[in-house]
Amino acid sequence: MLDRHEIFEKHGWLLSIGILVAVSIGGLVEIAPLFYLESTIEEVDGVRPYSPLELAGRNIYVREGCYTCHSQMVRPLRDEVERYGHYSLAAESMYDHPFQWGSKRTGPDLARLGGKYSDEWHRQHMIDPRSLVPESVMPPYKLLAERALDYRQIENDLKANRMVGVPYTDEMIENAKADLEAQVDPFSDNYDALLARYPKAQIRDFDANPREITEMDALIAYMQVLGTMVDFSTYEAEENYR
Ligand code: HEC
Repeated sequence: MLDRHEIFEKHGWLLSIGILVAVSIGGLVEIAPLFYLESTIEEVDGVRPYSPLELAGRNIYVREGCYTCHSQMVRPLRDEVERYGHYSLAAESMYDHPFQWGSKRTGPDLARLGGKYSDEWHRQHMIDPRSLVPESVMPPYKLLAERALDYRQIENDLKANRMVGVPYTDEMIENAKADLEAQVDPFSDNYDALLARYPKAQIRDFDANPREITEMDALIAYMQVLGTMVDFSTYEAEENYR
């Protein structure tokens, strides 16, 4: 065996061809099956595209670079699951373009943040993190509460997401502005239509400022939906992996 290897060791070009053959076989074995799978992401009940307000909040999250300090992926390790909750499923970020898994945790993982705190907590924490967590190194984002949300282009945001595979319907795109306004107004006539399009969407004035729709409204709506779409009391991992 070692004798026969000598020929590779003495001839550089033969070694190169040998490497190419070995790597190609390895690559094919990994990649070829993917072409025969309909989808590499298993669909899970409850996961829906973001509502226009949540999507606007997500845009702010990306714009402000929150992902440089926060990840959004609970790994299937015991310490993570005990701290944050059920590990993240691929389906939970299937409508995230680009995904927000992140690669650094200066602050905690946010994948299961929804419902952990009240809107009031978030508002206060964003305005002045150290008023709630004295040792925090998170910067304050007071400005978001003072800035009106610019959602003139929200239909285009939905359209752009549709181009990369998020199943927004024509109806959702047409009603994007109305839906966005309805989600911060519990007295809106559009309440039922919004819920029909985005099941279980949380509808309330997230920043407690009824005078205008601010960037804070959008960001809190986004934070409160994170990790809440799948109902883990009924989700059975084994069944989905069988
Ligand atoms: C410089 C790093 C840094 C940046 C940038 C940052 N954070 Fe944080 N964040 C932290 C740290 C550290 C904590 C933990 C202490 C605390 O709660 O304030 C934290 C905590 C949080 C929490 C509480 C999480 C929990 O489970 O207790 C939320 C929510 C949050 N950040 C949201 C955001 C959002 C939204 C942005 C972007 C607008 C952002 N952070 C930007 C560092 C950062």
